[in-house]
Amino acid sequence: MASPRERNVVLLGAPGSGKGTQAERIVARYGLPHISTGDMLRAAVAGGSEMGREARRYMDAGELVPDEVVIGVVRERLTEDDAREGFLLDGFPRTIDQAVRLDALLGEAGRGLTHVIQLEVPEDELVARLAGRRLCRACGKSYHVVFDPPSREGVCDACGGELYQRADDDETTVRNRLAVYRAQTEPLVEHYRPQGILGTASGGGKLPDEVFEQVVAILDSTAS
Ligand code: AP5
Ligand code: MG
Repeated sequence: MASPRERNVVLLGAPGSGKGTQAERIVARYGLPHISTGDMLRAAVAGGSEMGREARRYMDAGELVPDEVVIGVVRERLTEDDAREGFLLDGFPRTIDQAVRLDALLGEAGRGLTHVIQLEVPEDELVARLAGRRLCRACGKSYHVVFDPPSREGVCDACGGELYQRADDDETTVRNRLAVYRAQTEPLVEHYRPQGILGTASGGGKLPDEVFEQVVAILDSTAS
């Protein structure tokens, strides 16, 4: 069991459901370290390590990187000091095997997940969100050309960095990422429901701050 103050959180949701967007707000309010396997894998790709080169083949095709690789990355990250009293996992776990291994890993340390937040968004909205997403090359801040545009096109409001489009945000890869999510990740909802730690926030047609109100209600609930 986690200690009473500890929030060990998983953000679960399809590509484009707003995991990164909500993570920014959760980090600002609750001070949890943001552990995004997608960001960590992209950093490995950019760094040109052997693991990065292997991961890239899967990521560019919209497929999942093998469980063994991703679990190794998360296991190491969770032992770092800042994750000892809580963490926010974004994009992990993504398969039943990853979820079972995470439960075991935390259990060995006398810990457990306290909240799994499912972000629900209709499929056409996911496609529109990903097609218009832009990211800052310098600070990583995320924008959307229609829903959340920067004040100056192509330039980050926060740091003045250059905005770019993610390599896997082209329509064909997006469709495959969504299919992979339905087949391999959505079943996690039924893995977590019986544990009594699952909360759902509906994101369809809502502003990020409106979704965040639901997220806060889940994180502040005493039931978990
Ligand atoms: P990852 O980086 O995790 O990507 P993803 O799950 O596909 O999700 P995204 O990051 O695309 O979307 P998001 O939910 O964060 O949405 P965002 O907030 O940006 O993974 C990438 C790849 O890495 C995977 O395909 C796989 O290959 C590999 N990988 C990662 N983890 C792995 C694992 N555990 N196992 C195996 N492989 C793994 O929002 C999207 C856009 O919408 C933005 O433009 C934003 O501004 C906008 N937006 C957000 N909220 C709203 C709103 N309420 N209204 C309107 N617009 C909104
Ligand atoms: Mg993300």
